[in-house]
Amino acid sequence: MGWGTGKGDSSGDGKHAGKKASLKAAGLEPRVATGDGAAGCAASARYDRVIATCSVRQVPRAWVEQTKPGGVILTPWESPWFCYGLLRLTVDGQGLASGWFSPHSAFMLMRNQRTDLRIYRDVVRDEHVPTESVTRLSPWAVTGDDWAAQFAIGLQLRNVWRTWHDNPDVDGVASRLWLATTDAESWAAVDWDGRSDDRFTVWEHGPRRLWAAVEVAYQWWQSVGSPGPERFGMTITPEGKHTAWLDSPEQPVPDLS
Ligand SMILES: C[S@@+](CC[C@H](N)C(=O)[O-])C[C@H]1O[C@@H](n2cnc3c(N)ncnc32)[C@H](O)[C@@H]1O
Repeated sequence: MGWGTGKGDSSGDGKHAGKKASLKAAGLEPRVATGDGAAGCAASARYDRVIATCSVRQVPRAWVEQTKPGGVILTPWESPWFCYGLLRLTVDGQGLASGWFSPHSAFMLMRNQRTDLRIYRDVVRDEHVPTESVTRLSPWAVTGDDWAAQFAIGLQLRNVWRTWHDNPDVDGVASRLWLATTDAESWAAVDWDGRSDDRFTVWEHGPRRLWAAVEVAYQWWQSVGSPGPERFGMTITPEGKHTAWLDSPEQPVPDLS
């Protein structure tokens, strides 16, 4: 079975028709249902496998309910911090789903889970008076090439996103990293002056000190041996609570959200 959103969408009827023809040529006769993938497809449930080709920040309840006991949900994962990781959940038949991540997946986010926030339009206001401090943690350590670090930060800070602003029109700032909560209530900025690589200015506003939280998340990840996604897992309860863990469900990842 495949999911799409209807005519006009790149995954709509036309594209499905092509896929259907290819599958038929291979001797397979899939049933194609068109609609919101978050709702699954109750009509033919329950399934041995639910395989998503978009990423999710929350596994839709319908997917768990529509999977057979012992069946598997495979879905690309995304946190607002970083889109990375593939989650393979086994469903127990009583509403619980649990399983491991693996690396190397990055798919576009499911449509109804997108937040569409912009830092100047939605978050930072002229009247905000942020606190100022200095950090020695490089902003590139938590946003750069180290995908394992970014994945682990995303698991701990499930409602924080970030964006870079190069060459902002600010004296003495070559690049600025912005962070903000998905409710747009708290933000932080970390400035690189273009010279120093061990001293950065931090601005924070709102009820949460976001850069401080990122530092805690990064230190925790280092303290447990800088693990990659393959050492992490996730358990989802019948109530929909998502708990990330390291090595086993008995070791939950700190929730700094
Ligand atoms: C990475 S593409 C994969 C496309 C297709 N499955 C394939 O393998 O070629 C992700 C697709 O998910 C679709 N999508 C995103 N959110 C959706 C939703 N809530 N319901 C159905 N489709 C959705 C997008 O329109 C997009 O076509």
